[in-house]
Amino acid sequence: MGTPVLTIDGPSGAGKGTVSRLLAKQLGWHYLDSGSIYRSLAIALAKQDVRVDDVAMIVKIAKAMVLEFECDEGLVVKLDKEDITAQLGLESTGNAASIIAALPEVREVLLQKQQDFRQAPGLVADGRDMGTVVFPNAEKKVFLTASSEKRAERRYKQLKEKGIDANLASLTKEIEERDRRDRERATAPLRMASGALFIDSSDMTIDAVINKVLDFIQ
Ligand code: DC
Repeated sequence: MGTPVLTIDGPSGAGKGTVSRLLAKQLGWHYLDSGSIYRSLAIALAKQDVRVDDVAMIVKIAKAMVLEFECDEGLVVKLDKEDITAQLGLESTGNAASIIAALPEVREVLLQKQQDFRQAPGLVADGRDMGTVVFPNAEKKVFLTASSEKRAERRYKQLKEKGIDANLASLTKEIEERDRRDRERATAPLRMASGALFIDSSDMTIDAVINKVLDFIQ
């Protein structure tokens, strides 16, 4: 079946990023953070003052943008040679990404960019539709979730650690709003792929989640 792929889908803040990155490292595989591609496009659009309803312009920019990913301690992302890593993690970027991600034209343009990450010896792909749309023939699929309260708490802690001011109640509201948008959109909505291993990480450590996935794929 070619290069093996492990897909890890789920809502924002479930721990997909950390778990996928560590798994990729442990397996010696490549890592695709598909959310960062949607986030990068959101940043490109903001830089050029493009309105979110100008679909033709959005598609043009999505086709033209050149992204470079360097996976070291964390992920470093360059958009048209400019390092955008700092803006990538902002809540406002995630929310803008979720809005443009609902456009089928955008998803179509970004599909191939994501599939190009499937390179030997293997790929861990993290997102919303990795197991359902982008890599439907992946050998192993995981759906990783956690309660919205737990996800907001984790995000709150991360932001505080970075010295960024945050409000737990509004973070919870934003997370729930983003989940609703990602789940209810018509194209490639967030849902569990058939045959996927379901993990609720609400009361689990990162290590426990990783061990569960390793048990599943071995
Ligand atoms: O995983 P993330 O929080 O970085 O993703 C940001 C947004 O991008 C998310 O709210 C929806 C969109 N997204 C998507 O539609 N499909 C993906 N495979 C990954 C992200």
